[in-house]
Amino acid sequence: MMLADTTLAERRRIEDGDLRQLFLDARTHNGWLDKPVPDAVLAEIYEIAKFGPTSMNTQPIRLTFLRTAAAKARLRPYLGPANVDKTMAAPVTAIVAHDLAFHEHLPKLFPHNPNAKGVFEGKPALIETTAIRNGSLQGAYFIIAARALGLDCGPMSGFDNAGVDAEFFAGTQVKSNFLCNLGCGDHAKVFARSPRLDFASVCTLL
Ligand SMILES: Cc1cc2nc3c(=O)[nH]c(=O)nc-3n(C[C@H](O)[C@H](O)[C@H](O)COP(=O)(O)O)c2cc1C
Repeated sequence: MMLADTTLAERRRIEDGDLRQLFLDARTHNGWLDKPVPDAVLAEIYEIAKFGPTSMNTQPIRLTFLRTAAAKARLRPYLGPANVDKTMAAPVTAIVAHDLAFHEHLPKLFPHNPNAKGVFEGKPALIETTAIRNGSLQGAYFIIAARALGLDCGPMSGFDNAGVDAEFFAGTQVKSNFLCNLGCGDHAKVFARSPRLDFASVCTLL
């Protein structure tokens, strides 16, 4: 792939190899090598991803890392059939969720607007839209941060969200969005790269 030479003179562009690792060569993984992911690396992924922007700094994402056979067994009944084996084999599976009570934290997270919490109170549609939008953005930051640290990802939406929510988030307002297997992927088990839409099909220059 030809990388456009559009570097702004006064800005540092990341290296081509880094672009390849984050996007151009990065793949969605289905098979996993038997290499553990230390808890410290999970923490580092979050400590990087948390700086990605969210509207009103809402940060609704909530992450649950399933690292043990017992934790995976709780997830298994809710997985789509095609997602069972790869999820059981992955060193870690993250439940990427969002908290519909995210606005309770706004007095701390958005202190320059004393009414930030009030913007959302009593407005369930606005809460849900904001949580899904920003939780999904943060989920994407999470994937890119994991890739930046050298890990591979396998995101999945083929599961029973309501079942997972009852199993892991009962009594809370946390709702699952997608799952993400994490580890060192087996490159022999990726599917053929599917085409991407080109610039002209997707982008409008006005
Ligand atoms: C939110 C999300 C949900 C996905 N759900 C599944 C899934 O349930 N099962 C699966 O095998 N792949 C799933 N995928 C993988 C996509 O099919 C894959 O990322 C896409 O085809 C691009 O593949 P590539 O990254 O290897 O180019 C999901 C990806 C994303 C981002």
